[in-house]
Amino acid sequence: MKWTIEVGRYDRSQPPRPDASRGYPPPYEDAPAKRYQIFEVELEDHAMVLDALIAIREYQDESLVVRCACRSAICGSCGMWINGHASLACTTKLQDVAVNGKVTVESPPSMPVIRDLVCDMTPFWQKNLKVRPWLENKQPIPQGLEEYRVPNAAMEELIQEVSCISCGLCLMDCESFAINKNFTGPAALAKAYRYTADPRDAVTSQRLGDYSEPDGLWECTHCYECVSRCPKGVAPLDQILKLRRMAVEAGYTNNAGTRHALAFAESVRDSGRLNELTLMPKSVGLFNIPAQLRALPTAFNMLRAGKLPPIIHHKIPHVERIKAIFKKIGGIFK
Ligand code: FES
Repeated sequence: MKWTIEVGRYDRSQPPRPDASRGYPPPYEDAPAKRYQIFEVELEDHAMVLDALIAIREYQDESLVVRCACRSAICGSCGMWINGHASLACTTKLQDVAVNGKVTVESPPSMPVIRDLVCDMTPFWQKNLKVRPWLENKQPIPQGLEEYRVPNAAMEELIQEVSCISCGLCLMDCESFAINKNFTGPAALAKAYRYTADPRDAVTSQRLGDYSEPDGLWECTHCYECVSRCPKGVAPLDQILKLRRMAVEAGYTNNAGTRHALAFAESVRDSGRLNELTLMPKSVGLFNIPAQLRALPTAFNMLRAGKLPPIIHHKIPHVERIKAIFKKIGGIFK
């Protein structure tokens, strides 16, 4: 079958600029300048995107730069944008993504580009290092044992994260990272959970405090891109939510993220709906006047657009049923 492959080629002579012609949404406005080149390849129906790229490089244009090694979703090196989403080229079938026989591949615009389809993974590795992805066990090995013994159940809890192949797809499509390059990111936070929840680790509390700092675990906005892009089912967002619960239970509540979650839940518990008017001041802190003043331009914009929430907040009918649900699920909102 004949496939049309449109390849985004990175042009080093051009400065970064918005690629308005491709219609990318605002988080990708920093997309580097590219030129798009069309190739036609003849391959079987079951061929992968990586097969097409290798065929182009071998038989049509040897200057095309692609990174790959295992070709079986193990090394994580072939991550790229395929039709606008981060995917592994070696496990993405052409027939699953082609639209009228055409597939577009390019480096993800959220990451710095080295050349063509190869992005610079330095931000990804820096974020991993930031969470200290190793065990810090300061206790001596229990007497009579040659090694630490961990209950099976404790390790089963960590298996999901251990499957991570560090391909970086979750970070490439993370919307929080797209607008805040300092965000620790889904992969690193999932890794952070793996070590925080390990019963051998002796610095759990210190880790939770560090991860609760600005740009840490509360920066995630639940876009779910990391969950849908991960090729190994790690579901980084799930691990972030577990970390948040651990941090709150450990007492790390004096931050905007925890206040935001508490204000959100309290509003729903007490009235059955979100009180958007009080959410922001409660999140930044009721007495944090400078932060509230900084939000005034946004409030005026909302007012102009007719989107300011109602001044008087009303409860929904039978709100006691909502309260009963909160009571039943318990936790910190009992
Ligand atoms: Fe190794 Fe694709 S080539 S994951």
